[in-house]
Amino acid sequence: MRTRVFRLFWLVPFAALFLPFALSPAIGDNSSGSAGGVSAVPLKSPGDFASITNQAKRSAALFTEAGKVLTHPRCTNCHPNGDRPFQGNGNHVHEPPVQRGADGFGVVGMRCGTCHVAENFGAVPSSPGWHLAPRSMAWRGKSLAYICAQLKDPMRNGGRNLQAIVKHMTDDHLVGWAWSPGAGREPPPGSQKTFAALIAAWASTGAACPK
Ligand code: HEC
Ligand code: HEC
Repeated sequence: MRTRVFRLFWLVPFAALFLPFALSPAIGDNSSGSAGGVSAVPLKSPGDFASITNQAKRSAALFTEAGKVLTHPRCTNCHPNGDRPFQGNGNHVHEPPVQRGADGFGVVGMRCGTCHVAENFGAVPSSPGWHLAPRSMAWRGKSLAYICAQLKDPMRNGGRNLQAIVKHMTDDHLVGWAWSPGAGREPPPGSQKTFAALIAAWASTGAACPK
């Protein structure tokens, strides 16, 4: 562990040289940082909501449970309202003061991939293609009702239909990273599998939003 952190500092001056390599792994690669991790904090399964007979109420309740993940700092740090990512579990704006840049991958000289590589590296959380979610997908500090409406709106969600939203939650590797976030960082509740099952059940019950 100590050696890895130490190696990081060695890396920083040479970081620019690594940029092309850091950004090169396929964005769709699911092999790193995803799947497997389970939080000690529980997340209910879709079956736990079977007793709610009103479908719209059940759907909204499923979303509310999934919201424990959506509003977790592992997700919201990368889905901020503005141009800077956040760090940690509180209100820490990212240090150094990086900016999203034109493409979400940072400005010249401070590209995300300079430090965030293909796998968690010492203190630096990492997964291939690490970058900030577009402004239209900002959830940090928003209500669950807002997040729910945003997720369903193709004008703001990257042109996705509900099926594509379910798929993104199920197998996107940046989503999956949250459950393998590296030493010293807590994952969101439950597992990616349970979270994705909640989102799938929400979608198949009419994707109702909490009030
Ligand atoms: C100069 C190096 C560097 C650059 C460039 C950089 N980061 Fe970071 N980033 C870090 C380090 C180091 C941490 C870990 C800080 C900590 O947890 O104490 C971090 C943490 C984060 C976290 C917090 C993850 C979590 O939930 O704890 C996010 C999100 C993040 N960076 C996003 C970005 C984005 C997006 C970019 C590009 C726009 C970027 N970073 C550019 C070094 C960098
Ligand atoms: C390293 C930054 C990062 C982290 C961490 C991250 N995301 Fe994202 N997220 C993105 C980016 C970038 C996009 C845009 C991808 C695209 O449209 O191709 C995105 C898009 C999404 C979308 C697409 C639709 C929409 O309207 O937002 C969903 C859903 C999503 N993320 C969920 C999550 C969840 C849930 C977590 C935590 C478990 C999470 N993300 C963590 C960067 C991140």
